[in-house]
Amino acid sequence: MRDDSRRLVIDGGQSIVDFDNKAFKPIPQEGIDLAVSAMSRGVMYRYQPKQKELSLTAKLERSFSQYIGVKHTVGTNSCGSAMYIALNVVGVQPGDKILTNAFTFHAVPSVIHHARAVPVLVESNREWAMDAEDLDKKATETGAKILLMSYMRGHVPDMDAVMAVVKKHNLIFIEDCAHAYATLWNGQMLGTFGEIGCFSTQSSKGLSAGEGGLYITNNDEYAAKAVLYAGSYERLWTKHFDLDAELMNRLQNQIPGYSMRMQEVTAAMLTPQIERLEYIKNTHVENWNLLHSLIDGHANIEIPMPLPQVDSFCDTMQFHLVGLSREKADQFIDVMKMEGIPMQIFGAKRNARDYRQWEYVEAHKEELGETIANIEFACDLSLQPHLTLENMRTIAQVFHEVLAYINAQ
Ligand SMILES: Cc1ncc(COP(=O)(O)O)c(C=O)c1O
Repeated sequence: MRDDSRRLVIDGGQSIVDFDNKAFKPIPQEGIDLAVSAMSRGVMYRYQPKQKELSLTAKLERSFSQYIGVKHTVGTNSCGSAMYIALNVVGVQPGDKILTNAFTFHAVPSVIHHARAVPVLVESNREWAMDAEDLDKKATETGAKILLMSYMRGHVPDMDAVMAVVKKHNLIFIEDCAHAYATLWNGQMLGTFGEIGCFSTQSSKGLSAGEGGLYITNNDEYAAKAVLYAGSYERLWTKHFDLDAELMNRLQNQIPGYSMRMQEVTAAMLTPQIERLEYIKNTHVENWNLLHSLIDGHANIEIPMPLPQVDSFCDTMQFHLVGLSREKADQFIDVMKMEGIPMQIFGAKRNARDYRQWEYVEAHKEELGETIANIEFACDLSLQPHLTLENMRTIAQVFHEVLAYINAQ
């Protein structure tokens, strides 16, 4: 694997990386055409079209519901907004305790803070998913009644164990699926286990539009309330598919509107992307499997595998650096960056996915030993779908060369 004739960039050599592993997906031409048409007609607001059949946002919501197999989707301006709306929909009050991952992106505790609630951080396991035993323990200790769980970087806990805890404590379960498009547990799509699922369409995600979010539910009342919280007023709810008129008439003036609607241009960009998700997933899975086969087994790399029930989207790869000091691990990241393969370590350099950095929540002071141990040397590699199998071979070669260099220091 190691090409001994090649000098690394740090030694004055040339990079062999001619791609950007983090470059975001371009919008398919059909999405560009729809967006340009909406803009040139001046129809950027989702409620501007006269009927729901003409609204790109309403049609996107219907398509996403059909794709996932749920009754309702509500478009929002971000996943953070979708989660904030979800907390309001289920009746969170200031001071309420919300069970959530100690290892996730800071958008999640931020949403809990936004609702003036209090996160209860649950430990993450070696594969960066929520530890169901600790969930049970924290639910018992705190009496918290709501679980907002992230499938961080697409990692899925033992869902049977999580659902048993949800049932045991009668938790209201909200799923953060920002990183879990087309991800299944025992053949069931993530986002359909809880009362509400929230997806992100920010650019690095499976569906990509710069910003945006999708809120899904099978509960008619939760859908009705979300539409109103997102900012539907008067009888604009008639421009959604599948809402219950009696429910809407009853709730219409009881719920504030937080102006978190999706806009038509976002829906335009997303319209052709749903049917491409499976194709993109196949590319991710092929790339991931090849790279895994080329670097797994290296003495400094540990790649925890998902449980057999999980069918993953594989758009990123995480691995633990083992047998390296902090200094050498940081050096590895620096030298990889010089080679043209940027990565991060979750538990280092004030990373926003390290709960100890969330100083706006009290829980950032806690000593969560399992989570700390599992993020301390955890590397995060983005593998966007424009990358090829050849690119995976190059990444693997660079990994081997850089680790050899680090070990020789
Ligand atoms: C795990 C996770 N959840 C939620 C979000 C929030 O998504 P958005 O940027 O659409 O609000 C992010 C953002 O990257 C995330 O990483």
